[in-house]
Amino acid sequence: MPEHRTGPEVSPPAAPAARVVVAGALLRGGRLLAARRSAPAALAGGWELPGGKVEPDELPEQALVRELREELGVLVRPLRRLPGAWPIRAGLVLHVWTVELLAGEPEPLEDHSEVRWLEPAEVPLLAWLPQDVEPVRLLLAELGAP
Ligand code: C5P
Repeated sequence: MPEHRTGPEVSPPAAPAARVVVAGALLRGGRLLAARRSAPAALAGGWELPGGKVEPDELPEQALVRELREELGVLVRPLRRLPGAWPIRAGLVLHVWTVELLAGEPEPLEDHSEVRWLEPAEVPLLAWLPQDVEPVRLLLAELGAP
């Protein structure tokens, strides 16, 4: 058997960790909340689960509470992260959590032109941002949609 000599371990340069964007799935009475982006221009008109970037000094749960307060004027409690992570663009990855609405009625206060509570049958009809399509599909499956 040839002898294999291994030199000192040389690791490939580590890719910088992607910044996490957290988005919240608000469910009420079997309906899912969707928010339509108004900004930036490149995303305007697309539907998403509301959320935003986790700041360096924040836990994802804290970022969710902050983002949904800023964007929708509601108080939420993060419940559970969906399995999976969806690339948004280089250096940015989407994580999705189910959240409970504790107080307030969602309104499009920042970066959105509209919010809508969707019946399961309506969910596939919207133009979702590409990275939101798969987590939304998972949520629909959990809602027991056909
Ligand atoms: O809301 P904010 O601008 O902080 O979001 C950062 C990025 O994450 C944006 O490019 C936005 O399009 C993306 N995003 C997404 N899906 C979501 C929430 C945010 O792709 N559900």
